[in-house]
Amino acid sequence: MFTATLTLDPAFRVGPVRRRTFGSFVEHLGRCVYTGIHDPSHPSADADGFRQDVIELTRQLGVSTVRYPGGNFVSGYRWEDGIGPVDRRPRRLDLAWHSTEPNLVGVDEFMRWAAAAQVEPMMAVNLGTRGVQEALDLLEYCNVPGGTALSDLRRANGAQAPYKVTMWCLGNEMDGPWQIGHKTAHEYGRLAAETARAMRMIDPDLELVASGSSGVGMPTFGEWEQTVLTEAYEQVDMISAHAYYCEQDGDLGSFLASALDMDHFITSVAATADAVRAHKKLSKRIAISFDEWNVWYQHRAESQPPTGDDWPVAPVLLEDRYNVADAVVVGSLLISLLRHTDRVAAASLAQLVNVIAPIMTEPSGRSWKQTIFHPFAQASSAAVGDVLEVAIDVPTYETTKFGDAPLVDAVATHDPETGAVALFAVNRSTAQEARLEVDLRSIPALRLTSASTLSNPDHTWQATVDDDSSVAPRSNATATVEDGRLSLTVPPVSWNVVRLGL
Ligand code: AHR
Repeated sequence: MFTATLTLDPAFRVGPVRRRTFGSFVEHLGRCVYTGIHDPSHPSADADGFRQDVIELTRQLGVSTVRYPGGNFVSGYRWEDGIGPVDRRPRRLDLAWHSTEPNLVGVDEFMRWAAAAQVEPMMAVNLGTRGVQEALDLLEYCNVPGGTALSDLRRANGAQAPYKVTMWCLGNEMDGPWQIGHKTAHEYGRLAAETARAMRMIDPDLELVASGSSGVGMPTFGEWEQTVLTEAYEQVDMISAHAYYCEQDGDLGSFLASALDMDHFITSVAATADAVRAHKKLSKRIAISFDEWNVWYQHRAESQPPTGDDWPVAPVLLEDRYNVADAVVVGSLLISLLRHTDRVAAASLAQLVNVIAPIMTEPSGRSWKQTIFHPFAQASSAAVGDVLEVAIDVPTYETTKFGDAPLVDAVATHDPETGAVALFAVNRSTAQEARLEVDLRSIPALRLTSASTLSNPDHTWQATVDDDSSVAPRSNATATVEDGRLSLTVPPVSWNVVRLGL
């Protein structure tokens, strides 16, 4: 066992807890939409064919925003294909995922789903095969109250009130050579600036996200952000970041330290944006929309799209099964996102259902929670008020990928209104328990509300449709609070949440 000494103090405030940190993502990819959120043959399906069991799990997960409809899919998408009478909608080739898109779900259905799930929609426009006009058309269809061709078309399609979508992504991963309509930073920056400028002529209050790097390891990383923001700084509010991690070659130590890479990604993008701000002599700051993040085993067979003449509808794709270590990494990535709440204004766990997802479904059958469901749901429910940086004194360990990594990472939240405190902590040690000694004296009179731990002697344990609960967060009976000091023992490879109140 080793000891980690942590100090909490309301003076270490980073910024507010933002509900939008707990966003997710629904893409027309694999079984995310069809047999995921939408399955008319399911016993719980509503009039639109949406599964109520999935809506209930989405609520339990505590999702705030949902990005839609892609992802790589959006870069070839014609949004008009998905409106009007369903039986007259075209079937199209989806080049991004070598699938057939039946267009049974489009923008109107998605907005009804979002309302039912009580999530804020975040829309993405196609800047791969399309441009300014089509983005304006979609915005008119969604947000103009009425009296124009496209807003009246929406009304004729059943939605009298505008959808009032605030957050819009200007394309997706335009830096990636795999993207349909991939562009250079300069080409994309110009297009993003002009699309944003025109969209603001319809609605000046939009929150617009420029497409940033699809990974910190991209050869154009840094230069991409600098060029795109040089073109579009005045017109956008956020720049996106995407990151996926996985355990490679049995290197669990590096995998558990993945949040160091996310920290580096966030601080690098912020520094680059601030450098452009300085050059332009502006006061406005660009925030980060971390609108794709998760664990994803991209090299595995289930992530390979079909090939040749096979263009299936809703194939099994990217259906990763997550284990306990994956859940601990997801928890540590949430710690990183919260710790940077001064800069990360929105984030989306990619994705929501079936596709690299916390929620899984059987077609017409059962739905269940993967291990990664739990840290997300717990953090979304417990993080309230202000984010506090936690001072941590803990030994480090050496990783192959990221150098020295602290064995324990943590962040806390403090609600100044109720006095409630939540501490989120991971133990990255693969072999040793950690004794957490937490100094709470700067917030007097705190008492323990609950302490829970997610871990398992076998960190490769995965949930299944038949057993998604025998390994779930369990009460941690070692937690005590005495004289302003919280102590608890946490197992190796664990995610831990302690809640305290006055
Ligand atoms: O989330 C899966 C895919 O990952 C998205 O379509 C794309 O944007 C990213 O490369």
